[in-house]
Amino acid sequence: ATPPPPRNEPVRDYAPGSPERASLRETLTAMRGEEMMVLPVVNGERVETGRTETIRPPHDLGHTLGTFHKARTEDVERAIRGALDARHDWSRMDWSDRAAIFLKAAELLAGPFRDRMNAATMLGQSKNPYQAEIDAACEMVDFFRFNVAFYREMMEEQPQSPAGVWNRTEYRPLEGFVFAVSPFNFTSIAANLPTAPALLGNTVLWKPAPTQTYSAQVIVELLQAAGLPPGVIQFLPGDGPDVGDPVLASEHLAGLHFTGSTQTFNHLWREIGNNLDHYNAYPRIVGETGGKDFIVAHESADPEAVATAIVRGSFEYQGQKCSAASRIYVEEALWPAVRESLEAQLAEITVGPVEDFSHFVNAVIDEKAYDKITGYVDRAAQADNVEVVHGGTHSKEDGYFVDPTVLLTDDPSYETMEQEIFGPVASVFVSDRSFDDLLDLVDSTSPYALTGAVFARDRAVLAHATDRLADAAGNFYLNDKPTGAVVGQQPFGGARGSGTNDKAGSKLNLLRWASLRSLKETF
Ligand code: ALA
Repeated sequence: ATPPPPRNEPVRDYAPGSPERASLRETLTAMRGEEMMVLPVVNGERVETGRTETIRPPHDLGHTLGTFHKARTEDVERAIRGALDARHDWSRMDWSDRAAIFLKAAELLAGPFRDRMNAATMLGQSKNPYQAEIDAACEMVDFFRFNVAFYREMMEEQPQSPAGVWNRTEYRPLEGFVFAVSPFNFTSIAANLPTAPALLGNTVLWKPAPTQTYSAQVIVELLQAAGLPPGVIQFLPGDGPDVGDPVLASEHLAGLHFTGSTQTFNHLWREIGNNLDHYNAYPRIVGETGGKDFIVAHESADPEAVATAIVRGSFEYQGQKCSAASRIYVEEALWPAVRESLEAQLAEITVGPVEDFSHFVNAVIDEKAYDKITGYVDRAAQADNVEVVHGGTHSKEDGYFVDPTVLLTDDPSYETMEQEIFGPVASVFVSDRSFDDLLDLVDSTSPYALTGAVFARDRAVLAHATDRLADAAGNFYLNDKPTGAVVGQQPFGGARGSGTNDKAGSKLNLLRWASLRSLKETF
């Protein structure tokens, strides 16, 4: 059985007056009134645990979207047993039947589920319609479709067989279960982390970020509607240790599929290391963590393109993309023109709630994020060696709003040039050094290596920077912003402190969830 070739889901623009816009609006209004109950799902059954937290839009703290119940240790232990039981039938199902479930999920999401997934992402994570559409609709659809295509390629790649022998490679699921731990910032990543291993016949325990449970619940609804059997993906919203401790203590832990902070990933990896003697097999560890992503602009660059890349790369989704540009290096001769264009573009940008469809910047995810980001912004405003070029203001009266902030510093080691902030803050260093020295600085400033971009019109400069920064970014952009990787076009992930670089949405990633068996039969 050969599934259809994958194609990227076209992005809708929700233009004023369009039926798509009217329909999304209607769904938003309905969901605002719905009072959703997000519950752990164990063996296909929703469990009311009574340990509840209220879900509110980050941009409208006076409104309640619903409640989520946190998984307890006993729910997690039951989920582990259930995942091991479900593995028996799921791993034996023909691969094309498993693939069909995710292809169906893609079609449902491209069609009848689209508004609900987008609206949930807008309300729960404060994404404007465009940011929701490229993530919760298009990227998630793309993950489902392309993972199936990559899986098919794997299945079709078979070894040579000389006369009298039949050699085969069997892509078996890992023995045990996979633990998926997903972040708040991309609904599509939240869906990809459990479904990529599941596609290969693994069963999965999935712990979403507590700040993403609202759209995570819609992912659960989607997968159920697509025919995913109970127990294949156990949905376990809750607190880190409540879910993580029993999972990491199980001898059946076969893999960790993680996206989130470096600190949490390091903690989980250490715990796995401590338990190593106890596991039946070496757990596969795949993680995408932090970033301190850069833009470096040569004096030959188009200043307006650089400014646009800063506006979009640093401030779309409030800078809460792991790929967001946050340290910007501009050659002295180019800076006045970049600054002029940047200030003109930022003057057009508005900050506000998602429901009116017009704001480029919405709220940051929660109070902890707000306090961390505004701590950096407020310290910068007081610092002698920093000029606030734009923004610097914030308010948490109605929601967690931080205005897009551009800082200019003559100290390339100033804290906002080096530390991950995960908010709408871009720090600019204007360089009078040689371009080579500047590239050395870019390469050595940060422990991360997720994304980066170089801007130049001079082709030799582009080639040189691409070579010199070869290990500085897993996703490297030439004359483009460093965000917005598309599945099937730019496989995504970074090395160094940014993760294991197993590229979400690639064959490389899927191979981590397979345990290969070689079969040789002699006739
Ligand atoms: N894949 C996301 C991006 O490239 C993180 O922006």
